[in-house]
Amino acid sequence: MLAKSLLSIASVAATYLASVQAKRHIYVGSYGNNINVYTANAQNGNLTLVDQTESLAPSYLSLHPSNQYIYACNELNNTYSAFQVEKNGSLKFINKQNSIGSAPAHVAVHPSGNFLLGTSYDKGIFWTYPIEQNGAIGSPNKEVKDPAVNGDSLASLQGHESPHAHQLISAINQTQVLGFDLGIDRINVFTLGKDGSLTASTEQPYININGGAGPRHGVFSKDGKFFYIITEEGNFISVFKYDAILGTFIFVQSIDTLPANFSKVSYGGEIRISPNGKTLYGTNRVPGTEEGSIAVYKINTTTGKLTLVQIIGSAGEYPRGLNIDPEGKFVYCGNQNSNTIGVFKTDAEGKLHLTATVHQPSPADFEFGPDI
Ligand SMILES: *[C@@H]1O[C@H](CO)[C@@H](O)[C@H](O)[C@H]1NC(C)=O
Ligand SMILES: *[C@@H]1O[C@H](CO)[C@@H](O)[C@H](O)[C@H]1NC(C)=O
Ligand SMILES: *[C@@H]1O[C@H](CO)[C@@H](O)[C@H](O)[C@H]1NC(C)=O
Ligand SMILES: *[C@@H]1O[C@H](CO)[C@@H](O)[C@H](O)[C@H]1NC(C)=O
Ligand SMILES: *[C@@H]1O[C@H](CO)[C@@H](O)[C@H](O)[C@H]1NC(C)=O
Ligand SMILES: *[C@@H]1O[C@H](CO)[C@@H](O)[C@H](O)[C@H]1NC(C)=O
Repeated sequence: MLAKSLLSIASVAATYLASVQAKRHIYVGSYGNNINVYTANAQNGNLTLVDQTESLAPSYLSLHPSNQYIYACNELNNTYSAFQVEKNGSLKFINKQNSIGSAPAHVAVHPSGNFLLGTSYDKGIFWTYPIEQNGAIGSPNKEVKDPAVNGDSLASLQGHESPHAHQLISAINQTQVLGFDLGIDRINVFTLGKDGSLTASTEQPYININGGAGPRHGVFSKDGKFFYIITEEGNFISVFKYDAILGTFIFVQSIDTLPANFSKVSYGGEIRISPNGKTLYGTNRVPGTEEGSIAVYKINTTTGKLTLVQIIGSAGEYPRGLNIDPEGKFVYCGNQNSNTIGVFKTDAEGKLHLTATVHQPSPADFEFGPDI
């Protein structure tokens, strides 16, 4: 009897521990004044704030492959900041560098761990910074500015009057990096030099996107064979077959992110693929309403093609960012204008089910720290 009740106390305690114990820290970038550090509830993914690090509008975050450093673009402050990840998950400021041109819209660490990849939205510039031994950001390498030309003569269209660099990310072949230019509707294919220089690829210098659609962010399939991009103004996702040896991209499919009968203005936001490679998520930002959503697609891993399986409300307004935990169990969506994070549990098909809504100032991006 006693043994039995002890057992049941033990099992209650174990359940309690399992429900509060976090496997890792979750870092949330925002348009507020901090990077917030959370732990997640193992049952429903709900977040508990455990620490905060001051940083001005640290909208996007990127973890170094060593797991030792996190980098932020301070989008409204025109800087890039480096932090050391402490054992307890706290972030310790290392240094910062000015961005070249205003509105650094994204940050990514190159998978080699040697470079930080940066953009200036306003000036349409891409560049790299060396990452030093202690994680500090070095002096920026020479920038690449897109030509202020537009083959589609869209100069009168707002946001397309000049180049606007939105994202710079590594390709699967790490000698290539891809520069998204929303303003001139192209994705530049650059060769990354050992010194961090960027030069146009000779095989295929850029991928053209329908004029005015505004290519914003991209992601590779887990097997590296396909490349998916979301457009900010076109409300579609495009799929390309990637040849990692030749470094070329061949168009496969475009698919809408909104229901056919949706008539409000909407802007594409983030695009991510689940860790098992089977599901793709894209966000729709609808200004002024809580009608923003997450579009969920099944990926045919043979053809790369997408099939829409769900469009679900994002649990707030203006879902700018979204990320998936390393187990693929929970999806976190940052609703910038309603100051809420939607927490969703995934099912076997990759579909989403809202489990919690977390209050946090203007959330944007999510980065998952190492296992603890
Ligand atoms: C960025 O922050 C520094 C101090 O932290 C401040 O002096 C500067 O004015 C800020 N710049 C902008 C563009 O907000
Ligand atoms: C984490 O550890 C660092 C020292 O390594 C300490 O300065 C900091 O206060 C700790 N943070 C928390 C939230 O305990
Ligand atoms: C892809 O990477 C390999 C080395 O891993 C390199 O030999 C090849 O030239 C690269 N292709 C491109 C287009 O950079
Ligand atoms: C769009 O169509 C779906 C069903 O096809 C319906 O549930 C929804 O209410 C419609 N939305 C609008 C804005 O008409
Ligand atoms: C992927 O597409 C191919 C070609 O259309 C089809 O034969 C195959 O059954 C599809 N795979 C899945 C898992 O749906
Ligand atoms: C999430 O956690 C917060 C604070 O810890 C709590 O107030 C809220 O009720 C939780 N929500 C759910 C759905 O568990």
